[in-house]
Amino acid sequence: MSLESLYQEIIMEHFKAPRNRGEIANPDVAISMNNPFCGDDITLHVSLKDGKVADVKFRGRGCAISQASASLMTEILKGKPMPDAMSSAALFKKMMRGETKKHEADPLGDIVALEGVRKFPVRVKCALLAWSAFEEGVKGKK
Ligand code: FES
Repeated sequence: MSLESLYQEIIMEHFKAPRNRGEIANPDVAISMNNPFCGDDITLHVSLKDGKVADVKFRGRGCAISQASASLMTEILKGKPMPDAMSSAALFKKMMRGETKKHEADPLGDIVALEGVRKFPVRVKCALLAWSAFEEGVKGKK
């Protein structure tokens, strides 16, 4: 299997069976954002405990890229101390801007499958939607 089709498979698998979809009762962060280019949206709930992302869930409407990115993001962030969560967000954005060196984004795991999306600038917004919601939502929170 080529790397490209493996990546395609990861994206489709998360699109069809998204992880951590839903809502959190009494979340510390609840934020909705939309992609102005297509109108698709995401609502992200985060609960924080002892400086960590204790739980994160999302609901949304969008293309395979946006939904897979949100699903993969929840897996990355869950249980991470906040500084690590913020560095993962920064690294993901760096990767989507095409600024990561070879293997630099590897610690992000399966979500490197989305790197190819950067060839399609309009779709980059789809991949960034959930991550922007996370960064915006946790601003000023500990
Ligand atoms: Fe709307 Fe991708 S086309 S989020």
